[in-house]
Amino acid sequence: MEPPSALPRGGRVPWQELLLAVSLLTFWNPPTTAQVTVELVPPNAAEGKDVLLRVHNLPVNLLGFGWFKGETVEPRSEIVSYAADSQEITPGLAHSGRETLYHNGSLLFQNINLEDTGYYTVRILKRNFQIEIVTRRLRVYRESPTGLPVGTNVGIAIGVLVGGALVAALGYLLVRVKTGRYDERPTQPGDSRSHLPGECGQ
Ligand SMILES: *[C@@H]1O[C@H](CO)[C@@H](O)[C@H](O)[C@H]1NC(C)=O
Repeated sequence: MEPPSALPRGGRVPWQELLLAVSLLTFWNPPTTAQVTVELVPPNAAEGKDVLLRVHNLPVNLLGFGWFKGETVEPRSEIVSYAADSQEITPGLAHSGRETLYHNGSLLFQNINLEDTGYYTVRILKRNFQIEIVTRRLRVYRESPTGLPVGTNVGIAIGVLVGGALVAALGYLLVRVKTGRYDERPTQPGDSRSHLPGECGQ
């Protein structure tokens, strides 16, 4: 008879405690470890230009970091790595010769091309053996002769086509209205005019 009433009471207390513990943990976490983020400068880069993968909130207890091409951290996809103690920067197997790593974690990517489009991952190793991994997607746009991204040109072209079609349709409508009036008028004024001289002459 007792278990039915004891079960919900017993189930509620640990759940609330857990909730409290979780909320306390989330409150305590941010001041000590601010999340590492990666900012793309500029956010959308055109081919032939440079892009900076800027790392924010690099931890102070840094052991080292590495940049990787793709979403995974495999040795063969490593672009470059940095060891904090020796301050040594080592190019990896995926280094294309156009990447420059700064000691603040930021990676400068020079003369980017369409094949550079994709994911880039930074792995940060801390002295407490914690690892932080951040992945960002880099988008590279084809540079057109106008200096505007191809998408913009397509947009402009569609705009011009739609605009042209509207003007053509409006012009056609005006011509139709005008010719419509011309068709009606010659019969009335033309007839009256031809009659008038005749009537005057009689
Ligand atoms: C890191 O250094 C580079 C080169 O000096 C700079 O452009 C970038 O803004 C720096 N990153 C941060 C987060 O300050």
